[in-house]
Amino acid sequence: MRLHINIDHVATIRQARRTDEPDPVRAAVLVEQGGADGVTVHLREDRRHIQDRDVRLLMETVRTGVNLEIAATDAMVSLAVELAPMAVTLVPENREEITTEGGLDLGGGVTDRVTAAVEAIREAGVRTALFIDPDPDALHQARDTGTDAVELHTGEYANAWRVGRGAPVELDRLQRAAALGRSLGLDVHAGHGLTYENVAPVASIAEIEELNIGHSVVSRSVFQGIEAAVRAMKTILMNARRDA
Ligand code: PXP
Repeated sequence: MRLHINIDHVATIRQARRTDEPDPVRAAVLVEQGGADGVTVHLREDRRHIQDRDVRLLMETVRTGVNLEIAATDAMVSLAVELAPMAVTLVPENREEITTEGGLDLGGGVTDRVTAAVEAIREAGVRTALFIDPDPDALHQARDTGTDAVELHTGEYANAWRVGRGAPVELDRLQRAAALGRSLGLDVHAGHGLTYENVAPVASIAEIEELNIGHSVVSRSVFQGIEAAVRAMKTILMNARRDA
């Protein structure tokens, strides 16, 4: 199982003062030293954390690979095609949200836009993933776009875990979605809201090949340093897989 670390919130701290520290480019080096298999950044249209400069420098400095999260807009897709990172994950974006709130809604006209984005990005030799809710309809719609992978939204699972109710139901939903995704020929990733406490059951799902984790790791890094925080998360994933 691959662990990709999302370093957006290193940039959030920098942008709180619009200064030049902490630098997500320096964080990425330490994240890789800590054992991450990839570095994820979300270049939002409002540029609230990661900036274009960050993505361009990360493309030159990251050794594992950059997973670029973007909305399926013309401008973002053009940038992704130009930069050709290791992978692009298409996510929904809403300016008012604090964080990505739900998976892509692939119904109606949206499907055409997402399908065109997937085609353009794959033509540039870049792997694609669609961030979707762990539901059968979304998985079938995702498969129809021609994407290589899906990233299952684990936010509902994380919320259920936090309030102490319903986590087994949400875990079952993720398990079923992961199995369906594999049977549809999709690579299955997962992420959002995963923490040191709630990650092990998700990491035990055999069909999930990649986790994208950000906030919890950056939070712990305030106390422990980011390299140690990544290593601790990686150890949990490896133990969960070994014991599954
Ligand atoms: N995956 C996707 C598609 C996301 O948008 C995010 C958050 O931006 C994450 C994973 C990471 O979520 P978290 O920061 O809660 O670990």
